[in-house]
Amino acid sequence: MAVIDVRGLRKRYPGQRLAPALADVDLTIQDGAVLGLIGPNGAGKTTLIKILSGLLVPDSGSGTVLGYDLLRHSRQIRGAVSLVAPTADVGIDNNLTVRQNLVFWAPVYGLTGPAARRRIDELLARLGLDAKADAWPMHISAGQRQRLAIARSLLAEHTLVFLDEPTNKLDADGVRSVRQLIAELNSRHGVTVVLTTHVMEEAEELCSEIAFLAEGRLRRHMPTGEVLRSLGLVRPIRVQLALPPTAVFRRPDAHAFAGAVRIECRDPSVPGEVELTVWSEDTLKTTPELLNWVFASGCRLVGMATEWVTLEDVFHALAAEGGPP
Ligand SMILES: Nc1ncnc2c1ncn2[C@@H]1O[C@H](COP(=O)(O)OP(=O)(O)O)[C@@H](O)[C@H]1O
Ligand SMILES: [Mg+2]
Repeated sequence: MAVIDVRGLRKRYPGQRLAPALADVDLTIQDGAVLGLIGPNGAGKTTLIKILSGLLVPDSGSGTVLGYDLLRHSRQIRGAVSLVAPTADVGIDNNLTVRQNLVFWAPVYGLTGPAARRRIDELLARLGLDAKADAWPMHISAGQRQRLAIARSLLAEHTLVFLDEPTNKLDADGVRSVRQLIAELNSRHGVTVVLTTHVMEEAEELCSEIAFLAEGRLRRHMPTGEVLRSLGLVRPIRVQLALPPTAVFRRPDAHAFAGAVRIECRDPSVPGEVELTVWSEDTLKTTPELLNWVFASGCRLVGMATEWVTLEDVFHALAAEGGPP
């Protein structure tokens, strides 16, 4: 079932002279998907999320969200979806503890009495906030505040959740815990997730499909696994090897590893070592095969590194292949 199905969305803010915030956006998302809405600053990601969650009316376009008409039923849409805004602190009251914040919001989502207490305890545990339940919001980390904001939005148990830059400004631990939470929401609870990010790596890790926005236009929308291949993007896997003292080193062929397209081999400054760079369009397939080859070759693995394709790489590739202006 299509959870989101919209056509021809346009939005121009008052006074916006150059390109509109959104231009002719068509988007269909099926139940159970995790969609990564990705694009540079000002691409229109937040505008699109606000329209899809019923907070903002498009200038034109039509469609449905959870079966509700985007234009006529925006109140029902607002009541049926969760939206976590980019700044985690929106809706968090610093004069209430972590738990009290959730207690305050529960009735807004129709939760009262023992049912509310149960749900709040469950959310605090699930978000790893139980130890911080009685702490003041200003005494917890940015990652924990973001999880509190997410907990608040989950009080409602909605099946469609919008997360606008959920990991922005978090430290490495915060990023990890919020990403894990998003993955669980989807895999364990079947929640359909739409998240925005300007980090390609995050979209690749979390999302089953990726939609690229640039200057208000949806340039591509496809399963995550196809992005690199369809854009001809390859990333390097570098391995540094110490050669076996006796055996002869035979450089592998690119065909030896699934997903590999090219192999470069060079002697680094250290004698007896060699550096292989395997260019792969599917590192998940290439890496284990490459490692198996290393172990079978008798070489000792000294170092290994993979570089992520960045959002810039993707946009260069999109620009190079042309497309809508
Ligand atoms: N309330 C607003 N008034 C005027 N222009 C806005 C407003 N909100 C966003 N914009 C403009 O619309 C474009 C898209 O913004 P936004 O949807 O916030 O992009 P993103 O979330 O991808 O960074 C940008 O050019 C931005 O400056
Ligand atoms: Mg934004």
